[in-house]
Amino acid sequence: MTKNIRFMETVLRDGQQSLIATRMHTKDMLPIIKAMDNAGYAALEVWGGATFDACVRYLNEDPWERLRAIKKLAKNTPLQMLLRGQNLLGYRHYADDVVAEFVKKSVENGIDIVRIFDALNDTRNIEVAIKATKEAGGHAQAALSYTTSPVHTVDYFVNLAKDLADMGADSICIKDMAGVLTPQACFDLVSRIKQTITLPLQVHTHATSGISEMTYLKAAEAGADIIDTAISPFAGGTSQPATASVALALEDLGFETGLNMEKISEIADHFRPLRDQYRAEGLLDPKVQDTEPRTLIYQVPGGMLSNLLSQLKEKGLEDLYDEVLAEIPRVRKDLGYPPLVTPLSQMVGTQAMLNIVIGERYKMIPNEIKDYVRGKYGKAPVPIAIDIQQLIIGDEEPMTIRPADLIPNELPTLREEIKQYAKSDEDVLLYAMFPQLGMDFLGRREDPFYDVPIQSVNVSIDM
Ligand code: CO
Repeated sequence: MTKNIRFMETVLRDGQQSLIATRMHTKDMLPIIKAMDNAGYAALEVWGGATFDACVRYLNEDPWERLRAIKKLAKNTPLQMLLRGQNLLGYRHYADDVVAEFVKKSVENGIDIVRIFDALNDTRNIEVAIKATKEAGGHAQAALSYTTSPVHTVDYFVNLAKDLADMGADSICIKDMAGVLTPQACFDLVSRIKQTITLPLQVHTHATSGISEMTYLKAAEAGADIIDTAISPFAGGTSQPATASVALALEDLGFETGLNMEKISEIADHFRPLRDQYRAEGLLDPKVQDTEPRTLIYQVPGGMLSNLLSQLKEKGLEDLYDEVLAEIPRVRKDLGYPPLVTPLSQMVGTQAMLNIVIGERYKMIPNEIKDYVRGKYGKAPVPIAIDIQQLIIGDEEPMTIRPADLIPNELPTLREEIKQYAKSDEDVLLYAMFPQLGMDFLGRREDPFYDVPIQSVNVSIDM
């Protein structure tokens, strides 16, 4: 019996997001889309995550226009996007009407597969987006935000996969945004999920800690259907492992990949000079291509390690680095073991730093942490202990309902607010994701005298 494993190419989304902070221009993508479309990929990840934000914030590009332009050239291969559940592509919870409209418009403009995740694995934050995707005629892929902790056992993730399948997911993804999924853990998880549910299973990891190829080998052996890789010039480090390398090794082991290796090499030839150009411009920091095994030791994403170190250095407190690292797992335990993904990774890191720098735990507490304990982000993986809760929000009663249940429909208001510049439903949604940036973008487009320059400040999002 032939063994099959298929590939999703991430260069246009996660690959470039991880290595060059999502600064790739549409014009650099379009000439190679036809070749990518004929290379035999299971899907091309082209949209969502930080691409939408970067288009509007830095590139002065219309993200919807990018999607339509890619779709025009990719006739055979499904296009995929990443969606943060009820947060969509923005930084807050949206009302259900915005979620439904955003997903519908994404599918209408060219997305075939929507990968939906929630940072806390709170399925209530995923459900509306799954339903909307299916109603729009798209494929809803539900993702498990992978992390390690005493509660994040194989059973935990298998049950989560079952719940998501029951909600109507068309496929499941094990999403290891931090690169902490080890080969054996991957083998156990894939085997158990495949034994439990019949849906296609995709595995997503990052090369940060240096073990991702081994993890994918075990994923393939355990029967995963699709793995996520990046074309070689945009592979390695905080990105995915290289498409051709993983494909050649797996084919040598008897797997059918369905990839046309000549096309893959043509695609690499296209992106190599671009990579060199981004490097010359300073957008590709050599640090992001480092191998960082400490990620496995501390169970902390590589980006979070370097952020903490640079923040401590700025204050001349780098000698506290080890103490802060040791405080992270304690804060995480206090908060019910949230996965260390955006925005929780930044929040937990900040709280750990405050606890150590001030010398007294929870003397100073950022509002985001208070909101998290109030339940505004969703359910913590395990309930937060009552003494910690009281320390952080006093006698306030945390909410137990779905956060979006408190948000009335907001599309009519959004339409009204941006009617001066919005020419389409897509424009309204762009404004909904990033109110100020969106208004500036649309304003520049519609009004020759609109005088707000394009931003150049860095934001960091890991996914
Ligand atoms: Co990722």
